[in-house]
Amino acid sequence: MMGAGKSAVGRAVAERTGRAFLDTDELVEARSGRSIAQIWNERGEEGFRALEWEVIAGLAGRSHLVIAVGGGAVLRAENVLALRRGGRVVWLRARAETLRARVGDGIGRPLASSLEELAASRAPLYEEAADLIVDTDELVVEELAERLARRVTVAVADRPYDVVVGRGALSELPQGRAALIMSPQVAALHGESIEKALGGDVARISIPDGEAAKSPGNVTCVWEELAQAGISREDLVVGLGGGAATDVAGFAAATYLRGVRWIAVPTSLLGMVDAAIGGKTALDLAQGKNLVGAFWQPSLVVCDTELLETLPERELRSGWGEVAKYGFIADHAIVGECALGVRVPSDHLVRRCVEIKADIVAADEREQGRRMWLNYGHTVGHAVEHASGGRLSHGEAIAVGLVAAAELGVRAGLADIREETRSVIGALGLPSRAPGLDRSSVMEAMRSDKKRTGAGPGRGLRFVLLEELGRPIIVEEAEIPPDALEKVLDGVLGER
Ligand SMILES: NC(=O)c1ccc[n+]([C@@H]2O[C@H](COP(=O)([O-])OP(=O)(O)OC[C@H]3O[C@@H](n4cnc5c(N)ncnc54)[C@H](O)[C@@H]3O)[C@@H](O)[C@H]2O)c1
Repeated sequence: MMGAGKSAVGRAVAERTGRAFLDTDELVEARSGRSIAQIWNERGEEGFRALEWEVIAGLAGRSHLVIAVGGGAVLRAENVLALRRGGRVVWLRARAETLRARVGDGIGRPLASSLEELAASRAPLYEEAADLIVDTDELVVEELAERLARRVTVAVADRPYDVVVGRGALSELPQGRAALIMSPQVAALHGESIEKALGGDVARISIPDGEAAKSPGNVTCVWEELAQAGISREDLVVGLGGGAATDVAGFAAATYLRGVRWIAVPTSLLGMVDAAIGGKTALDLAQGKNLVGAFWQPSLVVCDTELLETLPERELRSGWGEVAKYGFIADHAIVGECALGVRVPSDHLVRRCVEIKADIVAADEREQGRRMWLNYGHTVGHAVEHASGGRLSHGEAIAVGLVAAAELGVRAGLADIREETRSVIGALGLPSRAPGLDRSSVMEAMRSDKKRTGAGPGRGLRFVLLEELGRPIIVEEAEIPPDALEKVLDGVLGER
């Protein structure tokens, strides 16, 4: 509504998030060369709405914008559909008295005299259109802008959702009946605060800690407990914990009642920057990790960076391995942050990693193309992790994989980032080699990983390499020199 603070808050959000700010009323005026009041006088409301629709249709699907939209745009369903296509709609809600106090007698605003009636009649439309409702009666522009700026949208086609990143972000959880899935270890540390944030009507479901949770047997127990607690499609499933817990909660949500809404609340760095975002959920079988799963997007991800304070050092370090990956594939500034060593990262850094993953997932939800870039360092990394039989953490194995990818890149005639990779991995205290692992086991793990990820036998491996820093490409095994991979493995698996 007029007076809600769209322009002030919109501008402040745009500034904080490096986006451009646009106002549809201003664009209508610019396009027609007339003020809003003149357009209403000359063409009436219908004439104005037609111009407004042209402007909104032109903006739909564009990215990196904050758009303030005239209060009557919700009257046309096509406006709302267009804005929601890849975007998130926020209703800045305020009581009619607040709006009136801000608008005064509303000179130049054709509908100001009937503000109170309009606010009441349009409220249900705003509510229906909005992905997020924010109360602005106690408007402090900076605070509101901060709250909105810490949301990153994962703009997947049919169900875009937000990732909220920041200290205290648990307060953004919706209240309502929920099943809360977590391990006793994480429950002891953070169970109470999340239960409070969810409003207390919570059925706790306990799962084993870490990778042990990702078994079909355990998920059967989770399904049964969901049913026993009477969780319905109206309720929420919430997964709290590292990547293993959110994988299990997501899979249970994807399958229970043929799919219920779920929220991921990652508590590990790896979970925040990677596992909880993008809707890949998975279980392990005796034959290998992540062999059973579903694409099932959460409806919200809440990354409360305060929770990282209790994360053990080795887990934190492991998460930094993934952070470094984002630096290499997408943003050199992150590489600089990694060079400063392991610490609880800033909210800004976590948000930047989330943005990179969100952009890639939105462009390729089902991993047909760009999403494969996220596997930079993972072809060798996963195999090393597997062959180490659990001795190396995920992040440690990925660090070895990043070194291998840099080496392979040079042998494939691409960028030489070996020095930079080794120095970042060293600064993070992660291993650059995995001496003592059996090379044939690593090769075998790579080939069987490959078979599972889609390509038929005989088609060879596929690597993500860098043409230059920040520019990943997919390279087929047949495109690299025949002995390149063996030499690279000799390097990372050898004693020296
Ligand atoms: N779905 C995806 O897209 C995706 C992507 C990457 C990884 N994953 C999966 O994620 C898993 C790895 O995730 P992970 O590294 O978070 O490991 P994890 O889930 O096994 O957690 C590691 C340990 O950290 C503890 N922990 C987590 N948060 C804590 C906190 N705030 N304070 C204290 N202890 C805490 C856990 O209790 C656990 O013991 C793997 O199963 C992997 O397959 C999934």
